[in-house]
Amino acid sequence: MTQSLDLTPDEFRRLSAVLGDMLANYLAELPERRVYPGRHPEELRKAFDEPLPERGFGLARLLDTLRDRVLPDSMGIGSPRYFGQFNPSPIPLAAQLEVVASVLNQNTGSFLQSPVMTAIEDRTVLWFCELAGLGPQAYGQFTSGGTAATLSALKIARDRLGDSVRQRGVASILGRARVYASDQCHFSVARSLDVLGLGREALVEIDSDANYRMRADVLAERIARDRAGGLMPMAIVATAGTTPTGSCDPLPAIADIAAAQRVHLHVDAAYGGAALLSRALAPRLRGIERADSITIDPHKWMLMPNEIGSLLVKNGEWLKEAFGETPSYLADSADRHQMLPDYYRLSLQGSRRARAFRVWGVLQVLGREALAAALEQHVALISVLRDRLAAMPDFEICHEPDFALQCFRFAPPGTTLEEQDDLNRAIQRHVEASGEAWFATTVLRGRKVLRINIESFRTTEQDVHRTVDAIAEAARAVSPR
Ligand SMILES: Cc1ncc(COP(=O)(O)O)c(C=O)c1O
Repeated sequence: MTQSLDLTPDEFRRLSAVLGDMLANYLAELPERRVYPGRHPEELRKAFDEPLPERGFGLARLLDTLRDRVLPDSMGIGSPRYFGQFNPSPIPLAAQLEVVASVLNQNTGSFLQSPVMTAIEDRTVLWFCELAGLGPQAYGQFTSGGTAATLSALKIARDRLGDSVRQRGVASILGRARVYASDQCHFSVARSLDVLGLGREALVEIDSDANYRMRADVLAERIARDRAGGLMPMAIVATAGTTPTGSCDPLPAIADIAAAQRVHLHVDAAYGGAALLSRALAPRLRGIERADSITIDPHKWMLMPNEIGSLLVKNGEWLKEAFGETPSYLADSADRHQMLPDYYRLSLQGSRRARAFRVWGVLQVLGREALAAALEQHVALISVLRDRLAAMPDFEICHEPDFALQCFRFAPPGTTLEEQDDLNRAIQRHVEASGEAWFATTVLRGRKVLRINIESFRTTEQDVHRTVDAIAEAARAVSPR
């Protein structure tokens, strides 16, 4: 007899209890677990090297694998001393809501396949538009992440160049369209231009200043020069929270340039946009309300589990113009209602998960203030980190933090810049191997630096001190005697 694919109600209850128990223990142990598990890829590959099972092995074996392999060998993203790449400790409530979304499996591509989840996404999108101050015509949708949001935004900007592009392709603008972003912008901007058929060379990288914020004077001069030379400035992408340093480009000055030059302004606030939740931090994003489109990723600093980004646009009609279609098999859905959208007609995706549910649910239960308090705490902790590092001999602080990210560099006297690069790499590896904390390296102006991004609601001041102690210890261990 083949196995039933279903679970009886009792089996479902029991499995939920067992998994709940296992995960609750995992979460409770996170603060003292190793952050980076350190298992060699070869070992991992071997551990899972088995033929596709013809008959299942049953649940007990899977639960053993979960307990013995998956939990211990996973990166400790939820650890209070994980300071990685814009991957927050996800709020556990949001993870639980994900189970509900999966069980219901609503398809938010179409209203008929997801009536209540569509209403929830609509409401959450409108909250985001209000937070950003985008005005009464604004709308948006939730995406898989920031890359998809920025690609969609740049498609809208491309379409706004003229209505022939959408139908006839890019021939009329090829080699002439230009998109301006700082030399610190995320790779998704270049990738989007590639996908949109405009080519990576359409990206004009504008110099950033000593704090890695885009130089508005250079931007203004470059756009004017390009226009005079017959090129077509298509969009400016300002970054509110750059990936290497978390720096926020000068949005008011950039918005002035976009208005004067009549260029689409996209703000990539994938990371920094979360600050809109905090009345204390939101002023750091002043000018964002003048954007034509915005990327904000709840799976970054809004502390949601992957994958959820969002695209907001000043004029909701642009989404319909960019993505609207009505195939015959979905025409029924389109005819049946006027009040709530079929999101497949506003987005790159057809079938869609009920992504907004976790954000909506967390805001329902905990409220904006709870999230804001966590972000404000991260900003306070980054000052603690900065003060400690600044007081340590041989460490340099690389920039003023605009949000909760600090880059720094070990630069002992008597060493060359190249030796310092190696030392910084070695410090990162040393701390990683110790399991005590995890943070990344990045490259600023060609030099290797250490990068700490505080993004866990579990991080305490003590965790910051523990991490700095581990860094100091690593610096001693790797220094030439
Ligand atoms: C500033 C910025 N924009 C966009 C993205 C892309 O987001 P995602 O990884 O969700 O596609 C990132 C990712 O780190 C980012 O840092």
